[in-house]
Formats: sequence, structure tokens, C-alpha cells
Amino acid sequence: MKIKVQSIDHSKKTAMLCGFVFEDSDKILGLEKMDFKITPSIKQSIKDLGGKFSKIIVIPTLDKIPAQRILLAGLGKREKFTNDTIRFVSGRIAQNARELKLNEFSIIVPPSFVIDPVLSVSQIVEGCKMSVYKFEKYKSKKESNTPDLTILVSKSEKISKAIKIADIISDGVVYTKSIANLPPNECIPATLANFARIIAKKNKMKCNIISKNELKKKGFGGITAVGQGSKNEPKLIILEHNGGHHNEKPIVLVGKAVTFDTGGISLKPGEKMDEMKFDKCGGCTVIGIMKVVSELKLPINIVGIIPSVENMPGGESYRPGDIIKLYNKKTTEILNTDAEGRLILADALSFAEKQYAPKAIIDFATLTGACIIALGTNIAGMVSNNDKLAQKIIESSKRTTEDVWLLPLNDDYMDMVKSDVADMKNTGVGRAAGTITAAAFLRNAIKDTPWVHFDIAGVAWTQVATKEKPYNPKGATGFGVRLILDYLQNI
Ligand code: BES
Ligand code: MN
Ligand code: ZN
Repeated sequence: MKIKVQSIDHSKKTAMLCGFVFEDSDKILGLEKMDFKITPSIKQSIKDLGGKFSKIIVIPTLDKIPAQRILLAGLGKREKFTNDTIRFVSGRIAQNARELKLNEFSIIVPPSFVIDPVLSVSQIVEGCKMSVYKFEKYKSKKESNTPDLTILVSKSEKISKAIKIADIISDGVVYTKSIANLPPNECIPATLANFARIIAKKNKMKCNIISKNELKKKGFGGITAVGQGSKNEPKLIILEHNGGHHNEKPIVLVGKAVTFDTGGISLKPGEKMDEMKFDKCGGCTVIGIMKVVSELKLPINIVGIIPSVENMPGGESYRPGDIIKLYNKKTTEILNTDAEGRLILADALSFAEKQYAPKAIIDFATLTGACIIALGTNIAGMVSNNDKLAQKIIESSKRTTEDVWLLPLNDDYMDMVKSDVADMKNTGVGRAAGTITAAAFLRNAIKDTPWVHFDIAGVAWTQVATKEKPYNPKGATGFGVRLILDYLQNI
């Protein structure tokens, strides 16, 4: 989907001219001054729509004006308008354009709106681009065409810049979804490593891949143990974007990339096991963020670290009862091989702190089923050792509508991952506070670097209880890409 910007022009030739309508209003925002020759029927259509949230009607214009069709999109009640309204409704518009198999369509951005036009255009771009994506790689017959979009708005330098940034970020989200949606037979740790190499080469990032033997030699005991059960060898993927001063400390992003999680010897039940192809979503989010960061040439230093393994049962798998040594030399008793994420993440977090002495570490992981029990499938769990950092990211989350909820972490939880026979154990106490005890395990991997952990088990892909949104079609959601880009652009 290509995005163009033009000044508002009511006589524009377009396959579909789209405008927004609030509930119980008879005005098409931005089109108020338009001199329709078909006013009565349009008036009736606005009435029919009633401005109901996310409802859409398409009206043929019968060659009375240069636009072939007019699309009216309901915004709902004015007092219910949120940071997501324009994004959501724009997504519906774009999906309509796609279903009508149009080559292009145009959306009018009213000069006076509830929110700043700069914000509106960003949300329109995000909503449209993210909503026309469909995972069709393995369909013999592809259904989707992607129409191009012209945004009609009172032009300015600021508007153009906002559109360009939103364009790149949305492409990053779509890229993240497209690699996260890959099936586990077609996406093993080496595949993700190759994706990282490709984007690094394109955008002049440093890329370092650490493979099995070297991981073992360097003491990455968690990644080595989890990875040893699969013939698809583990990789530690490291991407560096050096946009800042060379001695400025970086921000490190870490993402769990288990390309398939069977549970290992503590095998998962068969039901919905296929969904564990999404256990790489945290890593895909970090790769996607690094792609965007390098394309935007952000003037800061950012490192992406992605530990990637396949968790399989087999003759060489690690076992419950094993005691392993993590990268930071702490020993861990394995009580459940299905609690693999925290083991590979702990290695990556300790490595990040030791290697980069970062300003902050932010990690993304589909870490616990408990997070879905606690928060459901529309809010990510968040745990941190630093209130200031956490609050900054919560502010970003309000702007991008990628909802998060901060959970507590105190010493009582830290005690719950202590082992009788080793420094730690890889499970908590029964099922109590499973999301927090997993985070407590991770907390042991870093000393005092400001850190935020996101448990994205519920939000990384669409599940039964997921709220339907046009920009989150079935499959991976790319959760976290827009969130962290907002954060990084505002520091
Ligand atoms: N990848 C899973 C977590 C998960 C489960 C995410 C279901 C989304 C949906 C993780 O590796 C896991 O299996 N965690 C265990 C931990 C337990 C054994 C302590 C879990 O949540 O059951
Ligand atoms: Mn698991
Ligand atoms: Zn897992």
C-alpha cells in the first residue's frame, strides 16, 4: 500500500472518497463545504449510518462528482472518542477498499478534529496499512490486493513527516506479523537469524549470530540446555543500530524466540499445541523494531538480542531434575522443561548487561499461560525494577493503544523461585502468580540495570477471547513494535 498526501480537493478523481461522521451528527467531517449535486440522497445515507462506531456505508455517486464512490465511516459518540478511534475506523475503511478490489482510495482529514491532524494522519496510515495485511503466503490462490491510499489534508512539513514515520513503523508491524506467522517447519532459529542478517545488510546494522558450539563455550547454559533437544540448533541473534554518539550507552531490547514450544520432556497436551508456533513472537517484535529503528535512522544506540531455540522432546533433551548453569554463573534446577523461556531469556539478559552496560533493558516474551488467566488477551503483563522507566512506557502504551498492566515484584516473589538444591528453580510455587514468578526468575539475571519485562502471551496473536480489531487480523499482532517506537522517539 503506497501512501500519498494531497491538499483537500473535493473534486478529486478517485475510486472512493472517504470521510468520517460522528454519531448523531449530519456532517461528513471535512466535506461540510462540499457542494454535492446529490445532497438529498447523501443526507439520507448519513442518517442511515447514524455515525455508529466502525459502521460503514458506500454510496455510488452516479457520475455526479469526480469521485466514483463516497464512503462514510462512523466514529461513534464524540465523548467516547479515544486514541484508537481513527486507527480502528481507518482500518475498516481500508478493508472495505480491499474487498471492493479498488486500486486506490482517498481519505479526507478534517482540519478541525478532536485530535491534532498530525496524530490523525499517523493513525490513518497505521490503521490502513496494518488492516490490509493478510497472511496468505501458503495459499495457492491469493485473495488480497492492496489498494493505495491518498490522504487529503491541509499539507505541511509536519504532516508529511508524520506520514512518513507512520508508514515505516506500520511496515515494521506488518513485517513482524509476517515472520511471526510462519509455520514452525519453515521458521527455525537459523531462519530468524537469516532475517536479521538481511535487514542488517539493507540498513547498515551490525549483526552477529552466535551458534551452538560457541554458545556452549561462552557459558550460555540456558540457551544450550533448551536447544539441545532439537536438531534445529539454537542461535543467539544480535543486532546493533549505532545512531547515537559512539560512547553513549545503548538501550537493549531482548525477545524470546522459541520457534516451536512442545514443552520438551514436560510435554504439553496436544490441544492447541499448534499455537506454540507463536512462541517466537517476542523475538519477532524485536527484529521488527530493529528494522524500523534503522530505517528511521534514530539518533540513539539500540541493540536487539534474540535468543532463539526450538523446545523439543528427544534423546538429547534436557530433563526435569537437571541442574544447569546460566550465563551469569547462577545455577538453576529444572523442574519443568516447559518453563524454557525464562532460561533462554536469563542468558540473554545477563549477556546484555555484561556486554553493553545499557541504559535500560526491555524484554518481550510469550512467557506464561498464567498471564492470560490474570489479564486476558487484550492487555500485556508488565514487570519492572524501575518505576520511572515503567511509567514512561505506560505513557507510550496509552498513545499507541497497546495496553499493558504493571504487576508487582517484591522479595516475597523472589523467594518463590529459590531452589533447595541450586540457586534457583525454573518454576514458582504451584500456579500462584505464575507471571510474576517467571519475571522474578528473570530479575535474577540482571543486577541493577533499569528493566521492563513484557509478558505478551495473551496479546501476541489473536486467540479466542481477543477483541476483534481490523488492524489485528487472525494470527500474530506485532504487539510492542509501535509501543517501543513511540517510547524511543520520545526520549
Ligand atoms: N510459551 C509458554 C507460555 C504460553 C502458554 C504462552 C500458552 C501462551 C499460551 C511457556 O513456555 C510455558 O510453557 N510456560 C509454562 C510455565 C510453567 C511450566 C511454569 C506455562 O505457562 O504453563
Ligand atoms: Mn514452554
Ligand atoms: Zn514457551
